Amino acid sequence: MNRDFRLEDHPLILMQPRIVPPYGWVGHIPFAYLAVDLLRPHSLVELGTHSGNSYLAFCQAVHALELPCRCTAVDAWQGDAHTLHYGEQVYRALRSRHDPLYGDFSRLLRASFDEAVGQFEDGGIDLLHIDGLHTYEAVRHDFESWLPKLSDRAVVLLHDTSVRERGFGVGRFFEELSNRYACFDFRHSHGLGVVAVGSRLPAAFEAFMREAQASSESMRGFFEALGRQRHGVHRPVDLRRGVERAAEALEREVHVVRGLQLRRPSIEHVLEEVRDAVRLLVLEARARSNVEREVNAMEMRLRHDHDAPAAGVLAHFERYVERARVRALRRPGHHHRPLRRSSTRPCTPRPA
Ligand SMILES: C[S@@+](CC[C@H](N)C(=O)[O-])C[C@H]1O[C@@H](n2cnc3c(N)ncnc32)[C@H](O)[C@@H]1O
Repeated sequence: MNRDFRLEDHPLILMQPRIVPPYGWVGHIPFAYLAVDLLRPHSLVELGTHSGNSYLAFCQAVHALELPCRCTAVDAWQGDAHTLHYGEQVYRALRSRHDPLYGDFSRLLRASFDEAVGQFEDGGIDLLHIDGLHTYEAVRHDFESWLPKLSDRAVVLLHDTSVRERGFGVGRFFEELSNRYACFDFRHSHGLGVVAVGSRLPAAFEAFMREAQASSESMRGFFEALGRQRHGVHRPVDLRRGVERAAEALEREVHVVRGLQLRRPSIEHVLEEVRDAVRLLVLEARARSNVEREVNAMEMRLRHDHDAPAAGVLAHFERYVERARVRALRRPGHHHRPLRRSSTRPCTPRPA
C-alpha cells in the first residue's frame, strides 16, 4: 500500500462497537472509524439514523480521538418506505444509549431532513453521511439540499450504493457524482459510496483516496473481511433481518390493536346506533308487510263488491231481453224476425 496511507497508523479501526438490529450498516463500522480519523471533522451530520449503528460508530470515534467535533443525527424516527415504519421504542432505546455517552458533543435532532437543513450554517459540515430514503429522487434531493452546508474539506458518504432492487437509486446517483468528484465505493453491506466533495481535503484523506483508487480490490476486500470478522456480518444476517421484520410487523399490529382499544367507547357508541337503526328497519318491514296484507284483503273485497252489482245488472238485462222476445212472438202479424241481442246502439231497458 502507498507510503502515505498506512492502515497500521489507524488502530482505531479495531474498536468494538455496540450493535443492535437492523444490521445492514454494520459491515462499514471499521471504515466509519477510519473516516473520522482521517478527516478529523469539526462538524459531522448523519441523515437517517434509525437505531444508530452507523451514528454511534461515528460518535465512538469522535469520543475516542477526543475531537472538538459537533455531531448531529437527523431523523424523524418513524421509518420510511424502505425501512418500513417502526415504533417509538427505537428512538427511546437510542436516546438512553446515546445521551449518557455522547450527549455533551452530540444531539439527536428529531425532524425531517428538509426541516433540519435550515439549522445549519453554510459551509460548516466536514462529514455528511446520507442514509435516508433510497430512491434516486430522494437521495439526489438530500445531497443537493445539503450541499451548500458542506465545508471545503467535506466528504459525503452514501449508503446502499450496491442495492438495485425495490426502487433503490443510490447507485445510479453515485455514478453521476463520480463524474464530478473523486469517488470510491465499498461493495459489501449494501455498498457505501465515498464522495470527496471538498476542494481542500485533509492530506490524510487524500492519501487514502489515492490508495483506494490504486488498489481498489484489496481495499474493498480488507474492509469487507474486517467488517465480517469483527462484527459478525455474514450470511445469517438475512435470517436475522427476517426475524427483525417480523418483530416490526408484530409491533405495528400491537399498535393498531392499542389504537382500537383506545377508541373502544366511541366504536361501541356507533355499534349501538347501528343496532337501533336495524331494529327500526325490522319494525318498519313488519309494518309494511301488515299493510300489504291489509291492502290485498281490501282489494279482494272491493273486487267482490264491484263484481256483484255488475252480475245483478247483467242478469236483470238478460231477463228483460227474454221477456221482450216472448212479447214480440205473441204479437199478431208477427213475422218472425230475430231480435238482435247485441246492438251498437245502447238499448234502454224498461223496468220489467
Ligand atoms: C436506512 S435507515 C438508517 C439506517 C442507519 N443509518 C443505520 O445505521 O442502521 C433510514 C432512516 O431515515 C429516516 N428518514 C428517511 N427519510 C427521512 C426524511 N426525509 N426525514 C427524516 N428522516 C428520514 C427513516 O426514519 C429511517 O430511520
